[in-house]
Amino acid sequence: MHEQILNLKNEAVALISQAETNQEIEHIRQDLLGRKGKINQLLKDIAKLKPEEKKEIGRLINDTKVAIKHALKSTITTSKTTPSWLDVTQPGTKPSIGHLHPLSLAIEEITRIFEGIGFTRVRYPEIDWDYYVFESLNMPPDHPARDEWETFFIDTPKNKKMGEIVLTTHTSNGQVREMERIGNLPAGKAGPPIRMLNIAKCYRRQQDITHTAMFHQFEGLVIDKNINIQHLKGTLDYFARKFYGQEAKSRIRPFMFKFTEPSFEVDFSCTHCKGKGCRSCKSGWHEVGGAGMVHPNVLRYGGIDPNTYTGFAFGWGVERVYTLKPGLQLNDIRPLYSNNLDFLEQF
Ligand code: PHE
Repeated sequence: MHEQILNLKNEAVALISQAETNQEIEHIRQDLLGRKGKINQLLKDIAKLKPEEKKEIGRLINDTKVAIKHALKSTITTSKTTPSWLDVTQPGTKPSIGHLHPLSLAIEEITRIFEGIGFTRVRYPEIDWDYYVFESLNMPPDHPARDEWETFFIDTPKNKKMGEIVLTTHTSNGQVREMERIGNLPAGKAGPPIRMLNIAKCYRRQQDITHTAMFHQFEGLVIDKNINIQHLKGTLDYFARKFYGQEAKSRIRPFMFKFTEPSFEVDFSCTHCKGKGCRSCKSGWHEVGGAGMVHPNVLRYGGIDPNTYTGFAFGWGVERVYTLKPGLQLNDIRPLYSNNLDFLEQF
């Protein structure tokens, strides 16, 4: 019987080590350790032995049982974990890649749309002299029209010609700067035409659900011979269709800016109700910003002869035009400046 038990032990351990699935192992367990299994059979046989043999054989059977259990246990754990961490054919987990911020996407789209009709994107300072932000735009110091722009001032000494330094309240500071730039090009290339798109950060003392102290504007400036209001209106309609879809329309209403004459406020038809009037637009239209024909004084400040050249300009908020996109209809622009990934990842 001694030999029989040792054989069983060796065979059992070999069998277990060759098993490939948990099912096979369970089968072996039943066969050896089950109620009617081989070990229990051996234990029953003990009764037939002589008393002096019983003790030794009993211990041997017990050792065998422990060895089998041990072998079963270690095989189960490896065969269970092996597939999950050793499957070298499984594709890896991809690192998550971010994307551009929604406003950067909007700026890219706006730039592409205007490039399509010959505009070139330029960049002018976001902290600039009073001269470029106000004075050269036909707003002398102390002119009440300046009150419209709730300005942040930089605490520096005044420059005699340029005045104070301010955080730009609009991208219109690029108008005279662009006229000066093209005026300074080498002879033969200097002077109009101008087709400028200036996109930049602007700052005003304001804060509510549709206004933040920092925001973005994009400014168009076109100067050439024989430029008239129809060119402006055509450009507005072109942008509306490209940005909001074929059915979108633009509308201009008389307004007052010191640097354009005539001046307009620009509306785009509501993309939600298609201009019929709904809860978000009320009238069927959304105001996006200003526009107009460049004032002769501004041309003069930029060194351009108003008797030869005319031009139009417009300046609108990037956040404003973007939040009116179909399907977006964001009433609150502040989440655009939050770190809330649940919001930002939707774009
Ligand atoms: N700068 C004006 C504003 O911020 C908009 C504007 C730009 C108006 C160009 C006319 C021409 O409100």
